[in-house]
Amino acid sequence: MDALARPIVPPAPYVHPEDLSTPRLVIETLRNTLGNWSHNAFDIPFGRRKVLGVDSLLVNDPAGVRQVLQTSMASYRRPLAAVRPVRPLAGAGVLLAEGAAWRGQRRMLAPAFTPGTVESLLPHFHAAADSLVDRLAAAPRANLADAFHRAALEAVLRSLFSLSAGPEQVALAAMASDYVATAGRPTFLDGFARAESDFAFAGGARRRFQRRWFAAVDRIVAARRAGPAAADHADLLDRLLAVRDPDTGAPLSDAEVRDQCATMLFAGFETTSRLLFWASYLLSLDGAEQARLRAEVRAFPPERVAALEDLQNWQRLRQVLLEAMRLYPPVPMIMRQVVTPDVLCGESLKTGCLVWISPWVLHRHRLYWENPTAFMPDRFAGKANPWVTEPAYMPFGGGPRICIGASFAMAEASITLATVLARFEWSLESDRPVMPVGGVTTAPDHEPWFRLESLETVQHHPGGRH
Ligand code: HEM
Repeated sequence: MDALARPIVPPAPYVHPEDLSTPRLVIETLRNTLGNWSHNAFDIPFGRRKVLGVDSLLVNDPAGVRQVLQTSMASYRRPLAAVRPVRPLAGAGVLLAEGAAWRGQRRMLAPAFTPGTVESLLPHFHAAADSLVDRLAAAPRANLADAFHRAALEAVLRSLFSLSAGPEQVALAAMASDYVATAGRPTFLDGFARAESDFAFAGGARRRFQRRWFAAVDRIVAARRAGPAAADHADLLDRLLAVRDPDTGAPLSDAEVRDQCATMLFAGFETTSRLLFWASYLLSLDGAEQARLRAEVRAFPPERVAALEDLQNWQRLRQVLLEAMRLYPPVPMIMRQVVTPDVLCGESLKTGCLVWISPWVLHRHRLYWENPTAFMPDRFAGKANPWVTEPAYMPFGGGPRICIGASFAMAEASITLATVLARFEWSLESDRPVMPVGGVTTAPDHEPWFRLESLETVQHHPGGRH
């Protein structure tokens, strides 16, 4: 089948003909935050609505989005309801910092995410991808959601600490994932809190998690610091330890190093593993596209990738990853709350108003995309970094707080997917559609099994590179 002539329209939750009444909106939102939208949301530049007494504005207009995330960013901050559940995972790291503290941290961390640094991490991405395919080779079927979760964790652990994912690290990932699905889910108390410390009586599970999580990250950092120093800055911990405050020359304190590591661990693996899952799912729905990518990867096998510019050889693969993040943005919602009254999209907003910027809605918006629900990687042809150049494409957020790990994630995902493509052909065992469910990340409603066919003709090699 020619995928260009008849593009595939992959599964997505039902879009309601009319805006939902408040009770139904609440029910649908609890069920799936991607399943509460009406057709209207995908046509309008913005929409305002009061839900349970809270004034909220959905912003689709790219100029409005830029205003919130960039030109008037000081008038907006993450709402407490979004901060409280994440604090135990990310501490005082850059993800949740605000104002001058955020600016200082972001400036100090920037050298750890330059193209040169990401290039120095490529061997870690290769090593994580190689152990993924070795694990997949052990059985003719696989739960790829789970396999990519482990692989993305391994990539970030190796990149941060030069560590492979042993049992203790796998337990660490399980701890974070369980937390997000249980005590870390936002509650109605988060919605009513006026300060982070409010309703402390109900925060026992979060405090216990934070103690265990930080203690585990402390142990890893301590073990790694006790080992031989890596003079060549081969991992991100080296970079963090080398960071100096540009004004005072002071290094980061132990707690600061720990909080940044915990932040990177959390922000880095859940998101990239979702991207890898949805890209593989789309490629199992579109076998012609999968074959096309395999041909591209065979022409330039993963083991030849030693520098970032080598990734240019996989243009089509990049387009598929970009299109996967358009259709299934790993972070489906970016929330802000007004802290200084502002006029946005012509609407006067008072302090406390919630502003919703939804990559899910924006990426499927009819004003900005042709055939928005279809899988058409061609739309990204010739667009190297569309998250910077395309106003309605924002899988990594936008403005000065745009994801610091975007090129890290793109390089890691390219190497991982290419390594799997070179080694296996895959298809779904069942016809049951996999539905995206909105949460902190866009998760599958069930984890499907994939049939894997090993491609014996392709030489898998471990040596040479690392
Ligand atoms: C496909 C993978 C990824 C996606 C889709 C993604 C998405 C995002 C988004 C949407 C934001 C902005 C959130 C907001 O403004 O409210 C963000 C911020 C952030 N991301 Fe990522 N991310 C990915 C991978 C990574 C990786 C690999 C790392 C680190 C190793 C990372 C670290 C961060 C950090 C530290 C922030 C906060 C930046 C700041 O506030 O200055 N992310 N990410």
